[in-house]
Amino acid sequence: MSQEIQVLVALDREVDRGLIEALVSRGPRLRVLDYLELDGPAASGLGAGEALVVVVADYSEQARDFVVAANRQHPLRPILLVCPSGGGNNNYLGEAFNNGVDDIIALPDDQGGLDPSVSMQLGFAVEKALMRKRGSAAPKPESVRNVVCVLGLKGGSGKTLTSVNLGVALAEAGRSVALMDLDLQFGDLALAMGLTPVRTIYDLVRSGGSLDAGKLEDFLMEHPSGVRALLAPVRPEQAAMITVAFLSEVQRLLAEMFEFVVIDTPPSFSPEVISTIDHSTDALVVAMRDTLALKNTKLGLETLERMEFDRGRLKVLLNRANTNVGIERDDILAILGRDVDIFVPSHRDVARSINQGMPIASQRGSEAATAFHALAQLYIDASEARSRQASPSEQGESPRGHEHEPARAPRQPRQSLFRRARGSA
Ligand SMILES: Nc1ncnc2c1ncn2[C@@H]1O[C@H](COP(=O)(O)OP(=O)(O)O)[C@@H](O)[C@H]1O
Ligand SMILES: [Mg+2]
Repeated sequence: MSQEIQVLVALDREVDRGLIEALVSRGPRLRVLDYLELDGPAASGLGAGEALVVVVADYSEQARDFVVAANRQHPLRPILLVCPSGGGNNNYLGEAFNNGVDDIIALPDDQGGLDPSVSMQLGFAVEKALMRKRGSAAPKPESVRNVVCVLGLKGGSGKTLTSVNLGVALAEAGRSVALMDLDLQFGDLALAMGLTPVRTIYDLVRSGGSLDAGKLEDFLMEHPSGVRALLAPVRPEQAAMITVAFLSEVQRLLAEMFEFVVIDTPPSFSPEVISTIDHSTDALVVAMRDTLALKNTKLGLETLERMEFDRGRLKVLLNRANTNVGIERDDILAILGRDVDIFVPSHRDVARSINQGMPIASQRGSEAATAFHALAQLYIDASEARSRQASPSEQGESPRGHEHEPARAPRQPRQSLFRRARGSA
């Protein structure tokens, strides 16, 4: 499902175009439609592209006027500013955001040996800004939402196990719950729940017409626990019909219809996963007790950090926690740089529960069931605390409360991406 993103690049005269071409072309998924000069006949290409990348040696008045004009002309097209770290002074940061810049990517001091990570960063920032702008164009829900995105960068780590059992445990605590299988090609939520995929998200897409809660409800399969599930297509090729925009709309509706939405994901940061993270209130990272898996988990946590995902809404579950492989809790802490919130033991009953499609959370008395009910309780407590806190004016906010409006506080961590300020720009 990875399509290219077409970007327009605008440069000021101080910028080495060759360097920028290398930077942009090395980034994943970006295709440059055109390069323009800030002081050239800008209007010629101002309307093109899904995103605008503005590269400047300094955030000058000219750069500011260009950004303001571009933003006014295309408010829904994200603008990414690429400039040297420090950029002469730091005051331009706030000004650039106010002018309509969605994100700032700092170039390392030594531009000669451009670090490939800067290309990655740029590609990533463009994708994220695009998702966020598209998301913010949709109507916002009225109430506080609980959308838990279950993540893990390794297949077989226990994401599906966790999603199913969190869903069932929440339902058994009397909450209304929707589960969504975002592993569109190889999703096995249905199997793990013992559900027959009579209707899947593919049937929903194919049904055509407009999407609303009533219609969506018809495509949810019901589990004996009360959990309703939107299942993945039965054949991998059917996934091609499902767009990120459609998924976002489905997620928005589910969040309005249910107290809790739990989303099972494939083991990658694909565009649909990134978009889902951006629309989720909570992320649950499933880790396993082996060094390679933990290294992947660490990368996942770092990615969430770069996406400015609120740490307070991030939990880590350690699956197969009792496996005796010579990695102790302190080692895990050292690798991940944070503690684990929930431990789920490895047990043959857990494997059997998945194979039989009978979630272990319903088999009270087992250690795994106890762990999943404790996890559900963490989310219930968090949800209740949020409901108490939410003043009426906050209730219509986006889940993470930071659309492109001036509330800039959550952007703070982004500054950590800046290397040492250059002596002079
Ligand atoms: N705690 C556990 N104890 C025993 N087996 C487990 C446990 N967690 C996962 N498994 C086994 O690993 C398989 C993969 O788990 P799954 O949740 O499907 O992983 P993912 O969704 O991350 O790919 C399961 O089918 C199950 O057999
Ligand atoms: Mg899975």
